[in-house]
Order: sequence, then C-alpha cells, then structure tokens
Amino acid sequence: MQLIQHARLSVAPMMDWTDRHCRYLHRLLSGQTLLYTEMVTAPALVRGGALHLLDFSAEEHPVALQLGGSDPAELAQAARLGAAHGYDEINLNCGCPSDRVQSGSFGAVLMKTPGLVADCVAAMRDAVDVEVTVKCRIGVDDQNPEEVLPEFLARIVAAGCERVTIHARKAWLEGLSPKENRDIPPLDYDLVHRMKGLFPNLHISVNGGIASLDAAEAFLEGGLDGVMIGRAAYHQPADILCAADSRIYGVGEVSDPRAVVEAMKPYIDAHLSSGGKLGQVTRHMLGLFAGKPGARQWRRVLSEDAPRPGAGIEVLDKALSMMDQRAA
Ligand SMILES: Cc1cc2nc3c(=O)[nH]c(=O)nc-3n(C[C@H](O)[C@H](O)[C@H](O)COP(=O)(O)O)c2cc1C
Repeated sequence: MQLIQHARLSVAPMMDWTDRHCRYLHRLLSGQTLLYTEMVTAPALVRGGALHLLDFSAEEHPVALQLGGSDPAELAQAARLGAAHGYDEINLNCGCPSDRVQSGSFGAVLMKTPGLVADCVAAMRDAVDVEVTVKCRIGVDDQNPEEVLPEFLARIVAAGCERVTIHARKAWLEGLSPKENRDIPPLDYDLVHRMKGLFPNLHISVNGGIASLDAAEAFLEGGLDGVMIGRAAYHQPADILCAADSRIYGVGEVSDPRAVVEAMKPYIDAHLSSGGKLGQVTRHMLGLFAGKPGARQWRRVLSEDAPRPGAGIEVLDKALSMMDQRAA
C-alpha cells in the first residue's frame, strides 16, 4: 500500500503523547494507519544536534516526522536528517499556537506568512525524496479563513506540498492557552469540504473533534481524502484503531486489545533491559480498555504500580487480572 493510501486515516502529532512507545502501541492496534511523531523543532535537530529525537522502531512504519520551524535552510537540513533516519514523510507544523521561540516563529503564526511557508516547503521538497506535507489551521486571530486558506493552500501546493491536513478551526494566538485553542475556536468542517472543491487534486485530510470511526468514514464518504484523529485515538485507542484496518483500508482483521497487551510485553522487556522505565510505555496504555468492564481497574493498577521502582512486566498481568475480576 502506498503512503497516500495509508493517509486515509492518521493519528495526529501530539507533543508528549505520540512518542515512539505510543506509536508502537498504535501500530500493533492498526497495521495501516499513518502515525505522526510529536513535533520536533528544526533548531533542536540542526543546531542542538538532538538526533536521538529521531529514533523510532522499524515496526512503526508508515511514520511521518513532524517538524517545527520557519527557516527554510534549517528545515531543509532537518528534513534531510529525518529522511536519512527513514521517516516516510516530513510534515511541517503550521497549526501549533505556541509562542515565538528564539529561532523565529513557528506553528500557527505561519498562517500569516504563506510566502514563507511556501519557501519552507520548497526547500524541504528540494532536500528530500520522501513526501513533504503540511498541517495547518483554517486561519489565525482575525483572519478571514474563506480568504486566507485558499491562498495558503495555493502557495504550498505550488511549492510542492503533496498533502495537507487541516485542523478545522482557527488558532487564537492572543489570550487562549494551547489547550483552549484545541476546543474553543469553533470547528468549520464545511470550509474544509469547500477547499476540496477548490483543490480537487490536493489530498486533504480533516482534523479536529473527530472521535469515532463512524465519523471518520462519513468524512471520507463526503469526499475528503483523509481523516486525522488526535485525542480520541490517544484516550480510546482501541475504539479508533482496532477496526481501522478492515473498515478504512479494507484489509486485515479487527485487532484485539488483549492480544496487543501480550504483544507489547517483548517490547517492554527490551525497553526495561536498556534501562527504561515501565511507566514510560504503560502511560500510553491506560485507555486501552476504555468503556469496557474493568477498565477502571486496569487503569488504576497501571497508574499506581508502574511508577514504582523496579516495576516490571508483572504489573500488566496484575492489571489484567484485576480487570477480569471486576468484569466477572
Ligand atoms: C497533548 C497534545 C499535544 C499536541 N501536540 C501537537 C504537535 O506537536 N503538533 C501539532 O501539529 N499538533 C499538536 N496537537 C494538536 C493535534 O495534532 C490535533 O490537531 C488536535 O488535538 C485536534 O484534533 P483532535 O480533536 O482529534 O484531538 C496536540 C494536541 C494535544 C492534545
């Protein structure tokens, strides 16, 4: 399957959440869904030499590296590093409502400078053979999305952007926290559909507030090319990912979260043997049985026991058995 087909469904880039352990878990739940890294800033890679931020497991493919930055040459170099590490796609973050950093602006504020974003995309495009994509908002602050979004898309397409994911709400750069900026500005899915009408050849994924596979399928049936899911995929990974392969891609079986716990054990063992801590992996597994009988027991045992010194794989067995007792 080609990357563009995998992009029918993706798990959003989420700082502190979609790290390599989380992605490994998500990959066991769905073999096909495209996974994104947390945002890695170009300055951290290029000036800071923090190449460990690029480490990932071969099993995670297809996996996209999301970069933050606004300097074309630096982003090109960061993209080169990402491609050399084996990422399948390099994505530029134009949606994060973060403050300016020393290196200049990055994230959603780039919605105000489509020419600069185009320069960044063109530089990244020249630097790597893998696909270069953009994740953006519909606008920021007092911008009129109907006007700015088509111009933004036209510029990045002309610069060689192959796919775009649109988080279907504005970012308000003044006065809202990043968290509030994921909930308060209203969603405008119709605008995303209209963009597909204006750019029929551009692969457009919609993001924001999509919390079930039913909803994802409705967007795909409605003419969009892809759906990106963030928080719901993290908090209820089984609901979103277990049936994704069969329903969204028409391949494979529905995965079983319990079998996935077993399949995580060798991975966790290897992590522990290399000096890692249990909780670094299991924190992403808390929602695995969300909505199922005993889910609370599972979550409680993992959250209480995994951080204890010396905690090992037996915590998973205890959590499963507490869950089963509760469910019985
Ligand atoms: C904890 C957290 C961290 C996030 N970090 C990033 C990030 O690094 N890059 C990015 O483009 N978006 C980031 N986002 C935004 C998500 O990618 C997504 O656009 C947003 O959560 C809306 O989708 P959802 O409603 O499906 O969660 C983050 C969201 C959350 C909840």
